[in-house]
Amino acid sequence: NKVVLAYSGGLDTSVIVPWLRENYGCEVVCFTADVGQGLKELEGLEEKAKASGACQLVVKDLKEEFVRDFVFPCLRAGAIYERRYLLGTSMARPVIAKAMVDVAQEVGADAVSHGCTGKGNDQVRFELTFFALNPELSVVAPWREWDITGREDAIEYAKKHNVPVPVTKKSIYSRDRNLWHLSHEGDILEDTINEPKEDMYMMTVSPEAAPDKAEYIKIGIVAGLPVSVNGNELSPATLLAELNEIGGRHGIGRADIVENRIVGMKSRGVYETPGGTILFAAVRELESLTLDRESMQFKDELALKYAELVYAGKWFDPLRESLDAFMQNITKTTTGSVTLKLYKGSVTVTSRESPYSLYRQDISSFESGEIYDQADAAGFIKLYGLPMRVRAMLEKGI
Ligand code: ARG
Ligand code: SIN
Repeated sequence: NKVVLAYSGGLDTSVIVPWLRENYGCEVVCFTADVGQGLKELEGLEEKAKASGACQLVVKDLKEEFVRDFVFPCLRAGAIYERRYLLGTSMARPVIAKAMVDVAQEVGADAVSHGCTGKGNDQVRFELTFFALNPELSVVAPWREWDITGREDAIEYAKKHNVPVPVTKKSIYSRDRNLWHLSHEGDILEDTINEPKEDMYMMTVSPEAAPDKAEYIKIGIVAGLPVSVNGNELSPATLLAELNEIGGRHGIGRADIVENRIVGMKSRGVYETPGGTILFAAVRELESLTLDRESMQFKDELALKYAELVYAGKWFDPLRESLDAFMQNITKTTTGSVTLKLYKGSVTVTSRESPYSLYRQDISSFESGEIYDQADAAGFIKLYGLPMRVRAMLEKGI
């Protein structure tokens, strides 16, 4: 039998390879997804996997699929978890797990494995995706089974099994990076009173160190999805990469958050989402032109549920898919462009336009009034406020 392992080449997943062979007597196919975590991590990976005892390494470039089919739907939905988290890791797990299910099929594996701990969210996201896409696969989560407890233990286990210990110095933080974001957890961040250290950040400069001169960018949007930057049409992944670059140099998109994990505990994390922060500002702003009051309010309500489902690993759930159908329909006319001013960590909207704009200067202007007759407002307010008048009459005995 064969198992497909979500493999990064780090110490933990390198140790899982011999551990799976020893404890399950299976061949191990390593799988690495490129979701934009930085190509460095992919170099020399095949040799490394084989040196750990894998029979094969499969690498898939999922960048465009990730941004087009996972990131952009969340952006269109306006999905934000617990007020501030833009869901970077939550959206990446289902695309990786989906690819693992495909690889299992391709190589004839009957099991899948991951290096997530038993305390986190990621185990849930991987496994719910496996369940949804192939309920027959067995799942092995070594962290929930083995008695390797720390880094020293893992190094010792690797040496005993003749696995070269990865030379890459393990960072003190638990990090997860993809095209949308970079998350930092652990070490000094575990105490909520500690301010993050400046040298921790990797995608953004500090707002203080950002240029003194503001930069304007124009984002083109079609049906709730970004399509261009400053007039250049770009594929989803290249557009996001470009905005990460621009946002990063202006110190945009840092968020220091204490969040509720699926497993019940709170955890503190710091996120860098430069391009994503710009895109959220742009799409949201365009909706102020294209959505009427009730549509916007209802969309925002559903966005909360949408975000909860994504956070909780229920990407491939009919409820998430149905909410997505609503989001797609309600944003059909969210087309146009938004210009933003980037300055020392802030994103300010300076201009917005849409061919489907519901804003009409001929109605709203202080200057004129053809369609809107001010006299109509008197009767409207009387009836609109009728319940208030009735209550006040009751209270005053009128
Ligand atoms: N707390 C975030 C989330 O659950 C980030 C998790 C980061 N994962 C990791 N393996 N370092 O989405
Ligand atoms: C892990 O525990 O594997 C990382 C953190 C998380 O999944 O929330």
